[in-house]
Amino acid sequence: MPGSAAHDGAPSTPARSAFVRACRGEPVPHTPVWFMRQAGRSLPEYREIRAGIPMLESCRRPELVCEITMQPVRRHGVDAAILFSDIVVPVAAAGVDLDIVPGTGPVVDEPIRTMADVQRLRPITVDDVSYVDEAVRLLVAELGATPLIGFAGAPFTLASYLVEGGPSRTHAKTKALMHGAPEVWHALCGRLAEITLEFLRVQVAAGVSAVQLFDSWAGALSAADYRRFVLPHSSAVLQGLADAGVPRIHFGVGTAELLGAMADAGADVVGVDWRTPLDQAVTRIGPGKAVQGNLDPTLLFAPWPVIEAEVRRVLAEGRAAPGHVFNLGHGVLPETDPEVLTRVVALVHEASARAS
Ligand code: CP3
Repeated sequence: MPGSAAHDGAPSTPARSAFVRACRGEPVPHTPVWFMRQAGRSLPEYREIRAGIPMLESCRRPELVCEITMQPVRRHGVDAAILFSDIVVPVAAAGVDLDIVPGTGPVVDEPIRTMADVQRLRPITVDDVSYVDEAVRLLVAELGATPLIGFAGAPFTLASYLVEGGPSRTHAKTKALMHGAPEVWHALCGRLAEITLEFLRVQVAAGVSAVQLFDSWAGALSAADYRRFVLPHSSAVLQGLADAGVPRIHFGVGTAELLGAMADAGADVVGVDWRTPLDQAVTRIGPGKAVQGNLDPTLLFAPWPVIEAEVRRVLAEGRAAPGHVFNLGHGVLPETDPEVLTRVVALVHEASARAS
């Protein structure tokens, strides 16, 4: 079974899985693979079980979260599960009135743009997200030797939704606040960092084997702005987990110019989108860190020989890093044929298999 492979005869545990070992840059029997957004609309069994249940409500039902999280593990044989949730779950738990609108994404009723608005964000405790604690515990029991990845949105990406009031192509209001009212910006991101850190600590305490900090929209920033306005807050989250004993993955899209800074923020593994070849990413990230990525999710719609060649290229370029976790460069698109995903998992395992 992928994910349970302990190649030296020792008992299989999540901590000894190929996924966790690759995150730590240790030798692995095969390159581990999972997909961002592996649980979701590409799966008919997901669309069926979610029918009629709003997204945020489904994140608050532990049995449902457990089932949805398990679906891609059963179907594809991926090396890790990722908790079914959303980046705005802890923000809603902190008192922000928001909704996840199908086809749009998170929408915030009253955007946060002043110091008084920032005060509406209260700190969270485990009691505010007890459904997440419960879902993780159920999953850890069900998954056995397969590791579970916990996650959260990074302060910048969360702040962008809160300041804009919803998804934005330009992040114009967010950048205007950052530069025009830096004290409000830092107060907002400071709060978000505290909430995010607590949310991840709850998941670690409940048993996740790794965490991923999604700064999906950080690529909208210059390197100088990233270092000044964002890095200190992401760093507070990642450094706050330094003693948690689980690998920390840090991911964003369009971050070619930010990879070094994102590594500096305190990641063990840097997630890379499809624009930067992994061997070049390794040079930018610096020594001693694993990489995750980076097949272009749109290429899953190409003929199989194209996909196969791309998978092999990504595997070859990933060998430049001490550890490589195979993934897409961003999330699975809803229209993706799930059978192609299953085939990619098998190919990654077969093409990377090392004799033990
Ligand atoms: O399998 C997994 O990766 C776990 C589940 C997961 C979801 N959201 C479920 C979801 C994860 C890791 C996320 C993170 C997330 N949410 C991010 C960071 C990752 C990324 O894509 O960059 C972001 C930016 C969000 C915000 C968000 N939530 C968006 C943009 C959307 C899509 C809106 C749409 O309908 O097109 C959501 C909703 C959402 N989150 C869905 C899922 C499965 C779709 C809702 C549905 O199925 O009805």
